[in-house]
Amino acid sequence: MISCGQGEGPRVEHMEFHCITLFPEMFASPFAGGIMARAVRAGLVRIETHNLREHGLGRYRQVDDEPYGGGSGMVMRPEPIAAAIDAVMAQRPGLWRVLLTPQGELFRQSMAADLARREPGLLLIAGRYEGVDERVRGLVDQEISIGDYVLSGGELPAMVVVEAVTRLLPGVLGNQASLEEESFGAGLLEYPQYTRPEVFRGQQVPSILLSGDHEKIRRWRREQALERTRRRRPDLLVKTPRG
Ligand code: ADE
Repeated sequence: MISCGQGEGPRVEHMEFHCITLFPEMFASPFAGGIMARAVRAGLVRIETHNLREHGLGRYRQVDDEPYGGGSGMVMRPEPIAAAIDAVMAQRPGLWRVLLTPQGELFRQSMAADLARREPGLLLIAGRYEGVDERVRGLVDQEISIGDYVLSGGELPAMVVVEAVTRLLPGVLGNQASLEEESFGAGLLEYPQYTRPEVFRGQQVPSILLSGDHEKIRRWRREQALERTRRRRPDLLVKTPRG
């Protein structure tokens, strides 16, 4: 199913996320509430986990081994991962294969938007332990890191990608306008937001927001967003803003 969204190319309307992991149970609660749960219930996304252990080797279903050349820690063997990928791809051809790794390309909003166009969906491979055999890189289309820090595995990063991509699919957020206005959508940090009360612990809501002058408010918000980005994340301003 495809619909014409904004930006380049069509946006996929229904998306599948397949996750290869040693810990499928980790994927339950993050998607059990809020927008993600609603998107699943509405049939806009489908999230399926695949237990890597089922493709483990030998009696003990081994998935890792000692590193050649020595060193501490274990390395994930390529054969179970290859077998798991083959099994999922046979069931659902055409998935975009992504390995979550700290050595991958840094995940950004623009990348989430590109992934939201990958029909029929994504196959996310969560690595564990100290790393995966180098030859696994040849089995995937893309390697993604969610930030310059190291987690114990790719499960949380995979869930971050699922959530960031899902909210961009048509029909997932009730209000499409809020998606277009929000942080990073325009390459800027979000402007300051206020709600009731008008005065909180001596801090007043900026009077311009109470003025009812929508053009002035729009300009003020844009200036605030720019100023905040300049102060907090100047690195975002050197890149071309994307819609
Ligand atoms: N696995 C461990 N740390 C990670 C990170 N920062 N991003 C993606 N996958 C990871």
